[in-house]
Amino acid sequence: MRILTLPGSLRARSTNGALLRAAGALAAAEGAAVTTADIGGLPHFNPDLDGEGAAAPAPVAALRNSVAEADAVLVVSPEYAHGVPGVLKNALDWLVSSGEFVDRRVGVITASPSPTGGDYANAQLRETLRMMTGTVIDEACLKVGTVSARLDRDTGEITDPELTTQLKAALKALAAA
Ligand SMILES: Cc1cc2nc3c(=O)[nH]c(=O)nc-3n(C[C@H](O)[C@H](O)[C@H](O)COP(=O)(O)O)c2cc1C
Repeated sequence: MRILTLPGSLRARSTNGALLRAAGALAAAEGAAVTTADIGGLPHFNPDLDGEGAAAPAPVAALRNSVAEADAVLVVSPEYAHGVPGVLKNALDWLVSSGEFVDRRVGVITASPSPTGGDYANAQLRETLRMMTGTVIDEACLKVGTVSARLDRDTGEITDPELTTQLKAALKALAAA
């Protein structure tokens, strides 16, 4: 199984980045091939760059290929101002009309230092991905609250065994769907 992880935070010490890497390692241990999309270099979405006769910018083409080649996509993102981080929404906007998400299995993980676990962003991402006709797997979606207390601050490794169990269950659901 090929899983593409799609990050919502570009921060070097991102807690969501740490979760994304942990989920990737758990999936790889079960035999999945895991790659991570590079969305930091995408241009701002502009339909004029993508219209008839225009070749999509190279980073956009690379993103589209990576989604097309994946069996499933796992989004791991923080919540900003009760919404989806702009860098992630920008990446999704580039994928709306090109169609790679059609019928693609998707899981959505949001993590926050707050107990809510980024519930607004989680709901918004699921709605947007459904609109893009991705197949959102409910059991592969997680809201991770108080995330900073559940990771090692320096290494980013998960210190809460319950969180590891939840991640494993989400990955299993993504694989089984
Ligand atoms: C601009 C900004 C807006 C934020 N808005 C929210 C929010 O609406 N809800 C929330 O739970 N956390 C919010 N936070 C806190 C983030 O969840 C926290 O900074 C988190 O560590 C970011 O994720 P990361 O560690 O993966 O980069 C916000 C942080 C920033 C910088």
